[in-house]
Amino acid sequence: FEGFKILATASQAPQKTVDNDELATMMDTSDDWIVQRTGIKRRHIAVDETTSSLCTAVAQQLLQKSGVSSSEIDLIIVATMSPDYLTPSVSAMVQGALGAANAVAMDIDAACSGFVYGLNMAKQMLMDDQSKKAILIGGETLSKLIDWHDRSTAVLFGDGAGGVLLSNTVKTEDAFISENLKTLGTLGHYLTAGQTGVPTPFMDQQKAFSPFFKMNGRRVYQFAVNNVPESINQALAAASMQADEIDHFVLHQANKRIVERIATALNVSMDKFPVNIDEYGNTAAASEPILLDQLVSDGTIKRGDVVLLSGFGGGLTVGTIILKF
Ligand code: ACO
Repeated sequence: FEGFKILATASQAPQKTVDNDELATMMDTSDDWIVQRTGIKRRHIAVDETTSSLCTAVAQQLLQKSGVSSSEIDLIIVATMSPDYLTPSVSAMVQGALGAANAVAMDIDAACSGFVYGLNMAKQMLMDDQSKKAILIGGETLSKLIDWHDRSTAVLFGDGAGGVLLSNTVKTEDAFISENLKTLGTLGHYLTAGQTGVPTPFMDQQKAFSPFFKMNGRRVYQFAVNNVPESINQALAAASMQADEIDHFVLHQANKRIVERIATALNVSMDKFPVNIDEYGNTAAASEPILLDQLVSDGTIKRGDVVLLSGFGGGLTVGTIILKF
């Protein structure tokens, strides 16, 4: 193990965008309510795209940008809570589509914390294994889990994918600085989606399985504004760092108000908390890598910058990782 490094970033969103006014023709809501409570103005919604097609497009961009060939990839991890199927995994579909014959592939599900959890896993596997190059993608089509009659959730989510190409082959300073992951399974009922199953002849009664996203928004909001600053502070403390040593806080884009509350709790200017929720809504595991790619592409994040990624969501889960880009 020589040094864990991000070689490239990429992202892909569905073509179709749906703005708040369009949603207001479908349900009792308004642009004002959505913007004031969340900061969301529009979101990308899959029509023909799937989680696997978005993730495959991201993987292809990663290879193109880095000049790495598909046969050099040893590991593909996709973080998702909205896979095409329970099996095959989205990552196996990406591996097949890329022709990355030497890569092992698996999905992980930690909802909106999935990208940070995935970074932790990819790092461990790059360190322990013979693996040299890994693709990690967060990809979602949450629109297919939404009850489009439920305004309390339908206005919040969007579809997309983003990812990184990771390497341990480059002789370089290790990018990994610190991390903090936590799961609070006793609070899992505050956010559920995609219940799967069919009624079996062995059940006493016909059981209804509900695929729809259900969330206690206020409880999840409280969880986020308490637990994310705690996770960030613990990751900083583990590295003996202060918040002002972080150049960019790339937070899960669930709600602009939550990002503002976290910035205030850490006593750090909002200038260091980039936000793109206006364009994408909440894309769960895809939100941080989409934002990361945007910031790298527009030159905001430069080599050597210290980037803190922090996500929270279903599980309930929370996770922070600090990297030198
Ligand atoms: N349009 C108009 N009115 C609405 C809408 C809507 N889309 N949705 C709810 N309302 C109404 C409610 O019915 C309520 O009306 P009432 O006062 O007459 O009862 C009123 O607006 C206020 O509703 P609240 O739920 O109290 O609104 P709040 O300010 O809490 O905002 C929100 C709701 C945006 C969901 C917020 O609680 C939130 O962001 N929670 C966190 C969600 C989150 O971050 N999830 C991330 C995890 S996602 C994952 O893991 C995939």
